[in-house]
Amino acid sequence: MFRRAPGWPAVLSDGPVLLRPYRRSDAAAWSQVRRANREWLAPWESSVPGDWDDLNSPATFRWVYRDLRRSGRTGEGMPFAVCLQEDGVERLVGHINVGNIVRRAFCSGYVGYWVDRRVAGRGVIPTALALAVDHAFGSGGLHRIEVNIRPENRPSRRVVEKLGFREEAYHARYMHIDGAWRDHIGYAMTSEEIAAEGGLLARWHRLRARTP
Ligand SMILES: CC(C)(COP(=O)(O)OP(=O)(O)OC[C@H]1O[C@@H](n2cnc3c(N)ncnc32)[C@H](O)[C@@H]1OP(=O)(O)O)[C@@H](O)C(=O)NCCC(=O)NCCS
Repeated sequence: MFRRAPGWPAVLSDGPVLLRPYRRSDAAAWSQVRRANREWLAPWESSVPGDWDDLNSPATFRWVYRDLRRSGRTGEGMPFAVCLQEDGVERLVGHINVGNIVRRAFCSGYVGYWVDRRVAGRGVIPTALALAVDHAFGSGGLHRIEVNIRPENRPSRRVVEKLGFREEAYHARYMHIDGAWRDHIGYAMTSEEIAAEGGLLARWHRLRARTP
């Protein structure tokens, strides 16, 4: 284990999108946004037995927070609260984590994310993913990032396809999501694939500038 995990803690931002480590004081905001988004999030999340409101209560956040903080400290993850800074107000609107980090000859991690339905379609998660990937490949010292997505999840597949992740695998019955073993499409990117473009955020800015 490292004394301090490479690339952690970190605060990253681009325009109104801010990625920062969770705080204990996020409990109420986290619970509010998770509870308000049950139908939006449940089809894409790991099966966990129990009532949605209980699993997403301010009290549960204490355990979530402890777990995320520990993963950041040990170098297993880089778990960010995704916030929007608008009109001088910072609001927690989502989550992104570079998780399951394995170092040595692998130097790889998996990214998971979600955003509040009320701000969907504004490019918040592509921006967050580009920030997180550039950071992971930079001071995080990683070489490869994977994102695994259910074939039915068109919005999420759009996110990685827009950013130019490579579709490289089909994982049958890969994860227990929303009550059953679900197939996933494996997308990946390695640091070489983006270096010549000045990073993934630079690519994303160029793509956005071209879109009317
Ligand atoms: C997948 C997700 C994170 C995308 O985040 P986002 O910040 O909205 O990303 P974008 O703004 O780039 O939108 C992605 C696509 O969503 C679709 N979309 C846009 N607005 C939408 C809305 N209001 N509702 C549903 N889908 C919408 C569009 O197809 C868009 O692609 P386009 O830009 O080519 O039109 C978000 O939809 C989400 O949180 N979904 C539920 C949880 C989830 O699926 N997590 C990922 C599991 S792998």
